[in-house]
Parts: sequence; structure tokens; C-alpha cells
Amino acid sequence: MSEKASYDIPTPHGGYHSRGGESESLGLTHTPRRASALNTIVASVALLFILVSQVWSTYWRFKLPPLEHVPSNGSEGVARLPFMGFNTWNAYHCDINESIIVENARLMETLGLLGAGYNYMNIDDCYSEKKRSPEVDEPFSEDKTRFPSGMKALTNEIHQLGMKAGIYGDSGWFTCQLYPGSFQNELRDARLFQLEWGFDLLKFDNCAVPFDHIIREGIVGKYQRMADAISQVSKEPGKLPMVFSLCQWGREQPWLWGKRFSQSWRTTGDIEPTWRSIASIINQNSFITWASDFYGHNDMDILEVGNGALTYEEEKAHFTAWALMKSPLLIGADLASVSKEALEILKNEDVIAINQDPVVGTAISPFRWGINPDWVSNETHPAQYWSDESANGTVFMLLNTLDEPADMFFNLTESPWIRAGRKYSVRDLWSHSENGTAIRNFTAQGVPAHGVIALLLRDAGDEPEALEPPCVRPEWCMDQNGTLIESGVSNSHLDL
Ligand code: GAL
Repeated sequence: MSEKASYDIPTPHGGYHSRGGESESLGLTHTPRRASALNTIVASVALLFILVSQVWSTYWRFKLPPLEHVPSNGSEGVARLPFMGFNTWNAYHCDINESIIVENARLMETLGLLGAGYNYMNIDDCYSEKKRSPEVDEPFSEDKTRFPSGMKALTNEIHQLGMKAGIYGDSGWFTCQLYPGSFQNELRDARLFQLEWGFDLLKFDNCAVPFDHIIREGIVGKYQRMADAISQVSKEPGKLPMVFSLCQWGREQPWLWGKRFSQSWRTTGDIEPTWRSIASIINQNSFITWASDFYGHNDMDILEVGNGALTYEEEKAHFTAWALMKSPLLIGADLASVSKEALEILKNEDVIAINQDPVVGTAISPFRWGINPDWVSNETHPAQYWSDESANGTVFMLLNTLDEPADMFFNLTESPWIRAGRKYSVRDLWSHSENGTAIRNFTAQGVPAHGVIALLLRDAGDEPEALEPPCVRPEWCMDQNGTLIESGVSNSHLDL
């Protein structure tokens, strides 16, 4: 038997089945010419079969999505990654019209935001007429004074700019500003939004809840109605379903059920342009980071970057936390007057690359709370030391929640994604520079008040020989002869 190299077949789980390289002999002996011709035909057919099956399996390997959570309502293919774009609410509230939206859409392009990945233009509350029609065949319409060209013309214009368009609705009788809601008219309104108006995303709010004896549903059933409508409507023209962005303010744990039929769910109440609000949203989300992954994301709310109320350091920290925690990134500032600094923050491609990581869908999580004991909820001083895997290395976020500058220190292996005994190259995701090599630990000196450090650590080989102590983490560090070594001192011995 001839020796062949063994080879590995990737499994759908990313592991490998190892196959020995031995093949069985066909046992062919010398035969007359006809038999030999037959053998040639058989061999060619077999060869062809092997070739075709190889091509076929390679095709499917790349065509099939990796095994991961996909919502069961048929929305495969939409919003695998957190969506990025613009939303009218934070900058304009109800004061919106079609020229504001078109102007900001054009600015998204000219300011390079579209190029940076922000490709949704989302209209929030207050775009429609006030009248709520209970008639199924009589949908409400856009406000004719503020949207004189009509929604279809507006989404056409947005699409022509290379963007997608988002709209807003409500699961109750009315929206939060008392415009028509969709309760009992979900299918009619999903048709209106997607088929007649041409929208690609629906943010769906939680106001004007019908009486219990009318709705006879819990919170899941209340949102399921529109999820089903979106799914049904998308089948009609064979379109992708609208992205379903739940806005439920985190009141009834949407991180537990939102991923059944939506691609994002708001986890908290409305954001405000203050550090207090940013810190409190980070704190609440620090306990539910596990809920975000491909196709389903904790939504930390529209960004306040560029609204002029946060300091430069606070805006950087706010943006880093939202991006690395895999929240949708929606710009909420008036782009006609946005500052150069705010634009630079919003376009940080190193940070956006983590948010849009096509390989690792999870969010950063705290590995140490810092000034508070681990797992303590503190609205003004959330967790400080965070990490996660990424396609290109381990990502770290250090948050100085104090009102004054501070040094921040961590041992690398406090993060579960770091290997002991290795050294790591350090990339600073804000200065966009390589900052040398970290061995065992890292200290960031003088992190500004409410400031952030974002790092990408990449394996750079073994650490130097014979470093002391033998384990960076003293807990249960043991020599193979049974000597327990704590804090670098051998202090006890087990008789094995
Ligand atoms: C709130 C929502 C805001 C905005 C507002 C519009 O419920 O959280 O983001 O959409 O309604 O009325």
C-alpha cells in the first residue's frame, strides 16, 4: 500500500475531521484489450464523478451560511451584522420633512459616511397624517405638507444614492407622538411600508398599548403580529423581509425573545446627550452582552455623537462602547453642522471593523468591573475592563468612568481570549498605530476622565524564557511535582 499524506475536512462547526490517507487497491490485473478499454471507461467515469462531487461540495460549502442563529421567520439574509445608518429622532424629533432627509442622505455620501458603512436612512416618528384609520383597506398616508413628493419618491431617491430606507411604526393604537399605530392593521401597514413605499427596515415602537381584554397577548405576542406580517409580505414579491428593529426600551427583557423574529431590540429607555445617560446604558447592557450575535443585536439606541453636548473623550467612549458591544450604529446628528471631530469619531474604521466583523458576531463583555466589585450594577460607574474575540485578534476596551484621569492596568490572561505564555502585538484603535508588544500585562497611563482605550492584541509568539512568576495568575499555579506557587513564592507542597 502506498503512503499518502493525510488531509483534513472542515466540518460545518469549524472543526476538522481527520482522514487517514490510505486507499484500497482496485485489484486490477492484466486483461485483454476490450476489458482494458472497459476499465478505461469505468476509470474515467469514476474520475468524472469524483471531480463533479468535489466541485459540488465546494460550491455548497461556500454557499451555505455558517451554522449560527438565524431567525425562524424567514428573514435569513437581512441584518446578519448590526445595521449602520442615520435616524432622524435625536437631531430633529418631530421637526422632519423630506428635504431634511434628502439633504442628510446626500451628506452621508459626500462626508464619506456611506463609504464608511452607514447605509440606512431611517425616518422616525411624526412623518404621517394624524388620522388613524381603522379600515383595513384605508391605510394612513404621509403628511402631504412635509412630504409633498410622497414616500415612494423619497425611498427612490434614497435608493438612488446607494442607501436603504427605514421607517417607523408602533405596535399599539398610536405612535409615541400620537400618529397612527399599526395594531390590528399590521399586514396592511407592512404592505404599505414595504410594497407601496419601498422601505427596507421598520423600527416598531411600544406606545398606546390596547386594553388587556382587546389585545389578549403578552409582549411577545404584541410584536409577533408585525413580525408575521413582515414575513408574509416579503413572500409576495419574493423580496427580502424588512429588517425588524424592535423598540421596547428593555422593559420586558426583549434580549430573551427578540431574536425569535427581529434583528435588533432596544435594551434601554431613550438616550440623552449626557455622560450620565451613556454610562447608564453601558451599565445596563454590561449584563446582557451574551444576547448579541449574528442576526440579532442589543440596540443601545441612536448615537449622540455630534450633538454637541458630550466632550470629545465622552463621544469616543460612547462610540467605542456601542460599536464593540455590537449595537446598531445610527447617526443622530444634523450632518449639515456636524463637527470635524465628531465625523472622525463616526468614521473610525478600526472600530467600525470590529462592529462589522464578518467572522465573530459576539459583543465585548466585562472581564473585570474595576472600581466596583464584579457583577455590581452602577448607573454612573459601569464596568471598566472588557474584551472579546475578533477576526483579527483579541479586542479590549478600557473605560475610565471616573471624573479625573486614571491609569488602567490589566493582566492579559484576565481575558479568556488570551493565551498564557505568549506575547502580543498591540494596536491602538484610536491612534491607528502599532504600539509595541505586551508581555503578560498592559498599563494605559493617564486615561482621560470618561475616556476610552480600544486595543487589538495579536499573538506575536512565545513570551521570553523563564519569566517569573511562572503563572501570571497566581490561583492554583502548580509545579508538576505538586508544589503550589502563589504570588511567585513556592509556599506549600502536596504529597502526590
Ligand atoms: C420612543 C423611542 C425613540 C423615538 C420616539 C418617537 O419610544 O424610544 O427612539 O422613536 O419614541 O416618538
